[in-house]
Amino acid sequence: MTKSAEQPTPSVDATPDVELARAVVAGLSQPQKTLPCALLYDARGSALFEQITALPEYYPTRTEAAILAGAASDIAAHTPPGSLLVEFGSGSSRKTEILLEALPSLAAYVPIDVSQTALEDARARLAGRFPALRIIPIRGDFTQQLVLPQTLAKRPRLGFFPGSTIGNFAPLEACALLRQMGQSLGPCGRLLIGVDLQKDLARLISAYDDAAGVTALFNLNLLHRINREMGADFAVDRFAHVALYNGAEGRIEMHLESLTAQTVALGGRRFDFAEGERIHTENSYKYTVAQFHELAAGAGWTPRRLWTDAEDLFSLHELTPHDAHP
Ligand SMILES: C[S@@+](CC[C@H](N)C(=O)[O-])C[C@H]1O[C@@H](n2cnc3c(N)ncnc32)[C@H](O)[C@@H]1O
Repeated sequence: MTKSAEQPTPSVDATPDVELARAVVAGLSQPQKTLPCALLYDARGSALFEQITALPEYYPTRTEAAILAGAASDIAAHTPPGSLLVEFGSGSSRKTEILLEALPSLAAYVPIDVSQTALEDARARLAGRFPALRIIPIRGDFTQQLVLPQTLAKRPRLGFFPGSTIGNFAPLEACALLRQMGQSLGPCGRLLIGVDLQKDLARLISAYDDAAGVTALFNLNLLHRINREMGADFAVDRFAHVALYNGAEGRIEMHLESLTAQTVALGGRRFDFAEGERIHTENSYKYTVAQFHELAAGAGWTPRRLWTDAEDLFSLHELTPHDAHP
């Protein structure tokens, strides 16, 4: 993982060019063309995601925020003073403010994200609201081992992984990621994780295909990003956003569908698209509480506490390592 710094590293807001190019070419070379969903979050993508979180159809953010507000004092009661709050995929860190308010004695807050602008914006806002809080942003990939400054290495760690970002990973990858987070948080660590729940299809689909078309812009922005950063020539208006529910896999899928037969030049290669052919850009797995408990247990975590909303739309779990004391 990118090493921590008190200031986020300057310069780019993008995955380094070589990595981006490798990921894009590999994804588009598969029989089912695919792009990694982390690439959705360049500066514009992160800003669009923020707009999505405020849409009437997008229930996860406001529901998780309300659950957190209700659970915050309970969470604080189990968090020793001097702990580190480590957030995976922190984005705007807006929901985190609820936790930060309840945890005034943290040693530091460590937000981790691939998006440089999201980290910078969050840092500036949080520094204004919590002037005494030490903030250590890490621009990097949360699937990699966490590297913290030596002076903080012995602090107890509370991991925070909200937004149901775990749902972007297929179950085997999700299990590996949760195991990796266990290593990053250490034997005394705890993980607070937000997980979106199975629910009626109409509600699920509209959350990923809103009437105002913001999710479509978010998805299509990936092609603008590849054009800009790789010199590709995607005709973005010849692709359409598609959100569908894959019942066999229990997940929402986002795709970009080619509206015509066309060829795209990219990285010295050409990629042919048939009319109707799709690029698979994101999965969002939905779980029952029992399914998620089974996943977490398989990754070495014991579910300790669970909070949900009155409609059972969303769940917040507190996990501890299998051999930890409650
Ligand atoms: C679904 S958004 C959630 C944002 C925020 N935590 C929330 O709950 O609203 C996912 C966030 O994770 C970040 N992200 C996605 N994949 C990542 C990765 N592999 N490493 C680090 N950050 C990642 C994105 O940039 C984005 O900010």
